[in-house]
Amino acid sequence: MRPPVLEVIGLTVEFATDRGPLRAVDGVSFRVGAGETLAVVGESGCGKSVTSLAIMGLLPPGTRLGGAVRLLGEELLGQPGRAWQGRRGRDLAMIFQEPMTSLNPAFTAGEQVAEALRLHEGLAPRAAMDRAVEMLARVRIPEAARRARQYPHQLSGGMRQRVMIAMALACRPRLLIADEPTTALDVTVQAQILALLDELKRETGTAVVLITHDLGVVADHADRVAVMYAGRIAETAPADTLFARPEHPYTVGLLGAVPAIEGGAGRLASIEGTVPDLRRPPPGCRFAPRCPFAGRDCEAQPPLAEVGAGHAAACWRAPLDRMLAA
Ligand SMILES: Nc1ncnc2c1ncn2[C@@H]1O[C@H](COP(=O)(O)OP(=O)(O)O)[C@@H](O)[C@H]1O
Ligand code: SF4
Ligand SMILES: [Mg+2]
Repeated sequence: MRPPVLEVIGLTVEFATDRGPLRAVDGVSFRVGAGETLAVVGESGCGKSVTSLAIMGLLPPGTRLGGAVRLLGEELLGQPGRAWQGRRGRDLAMIFQEPMTSLNPAFTAGEQVAEALRLHEGLAPRAAMDRAVEMLARVRIPEAARRARQYPHQLSGGMRQRVMIAMALACRPRLLIADEPTTALDVTVQAQILALLDELKRETGTAVVLITHDLGVVADHADRVAVMYAGRIAETAPADTLFARPEHPYTVGLLGAVPAIEGGAGRLASIEGTVPDLRRPPPGCRFAPRCPFAGRDCEAQPPLAEVGAGHAAACWRAPLDRMLAA
């Protein structure tokens, strides 16, 4: 059997802070296959970005990592920074919410895409620039040749996001992580960009990890979903199953307490209470302080246990049907 594109096994990430160690990711596991989109959802501060930065090898020095991150079966965590750097752009790419953080203001759009191609595909400068303009046209930047000569500040937010996608996809990475890639954009541009990602994914078989706050985006673009809470995976399921039959009280809360929501569109609902301080998380189930079903037994950590086909939930009460019917 071929290994999945990405396999994350028991990933832990711990930062040293002034007020003690902070474990932002605590035993996260998932896999993503070629041409598959895994959506990662959860409130702010649940460890979504830290998980993706860990996969990319982009966490600050001194961060303590545990577990395994395998790309096509090859372990990345133990590799020296240089080896990882070589894989970024070529095998691994990431796009962020704010493109200005990954675009260099001192270079034109064309130069940045061309640089990625020179670095990872060994193209000569002229050939790289020609391919860069092609890429910019591919991501539907009008008048690509002229836009290629412009600097990031001369482009709109949507246009910059397209440049970043062109850069990320120029080398046909095996894995693309998109961290809230369209949150800052208006709805029309957002839809165009997500459609573009889907199209490129179908063409290249890239595996996609899509971090988003938007359940409509999940419903329309994800094959599977992982719901994160306080550094752990609360629930994971095929997207349609998650909307039809959420099994973790946190997921039910996010979906607005109405498990079978029509069309599944809308933003995440807000749940009373806040995400715990990860320096002093509650013992056992981290959702207990906010959970309507919490009991004494929840002081022990619930394992992420299978509740259906490809469906697992970390809750002592799952499957929940009986609870909700009562
Ligand atoms: N470099 C860092 N040093 C210390 N704590 C961090 C660092 N980066 C992130 N964190 C903390 O890790 C937790 C998870 O953050 P993050 O992954 O960014 O959440 P989100 O799910 O919103 O993307 C938060 O509590 C955040 O404050
Ligand atoms: S384990 Fe207990 S506290 Fe945690 S989500 Fe399930 S019922 Fe709620
Ligand atoms: Mg984030």
